[in-house]
Amino acid sequence: MTATIIDGKTIAAELRGKITADVARVTQAHGHVPGIAVVLVGEDPASSVYVRTKAKAVAEAGMRAFDYKLPATTSEADLLALIAKLNADDNVNGILVQLPLPPQIDAHKIIFAIDAAKDVDGFHPINVGRLASGLPALVPCTPLGCLRLVKSVHSTLAGMEAVVVGRSNTVGKPVTQLLLKENATVTVTHSKTRDLPAVCRRADLLIVAIGKPELVRADWIKPGATVIDVGINRVTGDDGKPRIVGDVAFEEAVQVAGAITPVPGGVGPMTIACLLLNTLRAGCVQKGILGPKI
Ligand code: GUN
Repeated sequence: MTATIIDGKTIAAELRGKITADVARVTQAHGHVPGIAVVLVGEDPASSVYVRTKAKAVAEAGMRAFDYKLPATTSEADLLALIAKLNADDNVNGILVQLPLPPQIDAHKIIFAIDAAKDVDGFHPINVGRLASGLPALVPCTPLGCLRLVKSVHSTLAGMEAVVVGRSNTVGKPVTQLLLKENATVTVTHSKTRDLPAVCRRADLLIVAIGKPELVRADWIKPGATVIDVGINRVTGDDGKPRIVGDVAFEEAVQVAGAITPVPGGVGPMTIACLLLNTLRAGCVQKGILGPKI
């Protein structure tokens, strides 16, 4: 038996359809078009692709995208000045500064400068703290997407043994908070974890966000487990051509898991859909409009 493939592309398309309908409700009933500012500093090729994809999805949902492409030599002061301008702009409901930033800019300082109410990435310490405290918060998009994918195969996570591989601020830590909120028993692992394969084998739910191509092998997976692969790694295939692989060796993992996300077409599309949802939610809060029931 092979695993159920969790089709992130289809689940994200359904979510985006609902968001588009709700954007139309907000626009028609309240005369406000939700908007997001996407800021790219420099020309990292992967970041450029992500930013283009985000802008296209924003437009397709009927929202406004304000795109800022700044040179790699931009100073921290200039970027802070742009953030201050966007914080003050009523048409901008969400602000996303694409990471990584060039070395002369302190990313923590930039994130801290963003109005927490417009922090659609959920990286501001106020939102991080609110999530950890169980308060309403803007939550990072990739963890939100992961949770929606998990919920497409599990009606409840209560009591599940969840193992998170990776402790990043963008995925590992926030997804841990979401899983705790769902009453899963969560173990967070990282590069220093002893016998990582054995820890992973305990998992009913394995979430992998470590950025190492095909690290997780079939014998790391408990038969029937649900596996969410957050990795997006560019590698050279046996044929010499570039290809994208996840952090899980999919072809062998699919033989053991109960359900698994593919790469591409798993978590990636969900991240973008959740960014749209965060922007819509933030806009409704800022304008005092009833939020989406999505
Ligand atoms: N770079 C890679 N992933 C992300 C993300 O989720 N948000 C931002 N701002 N930058 C990123």
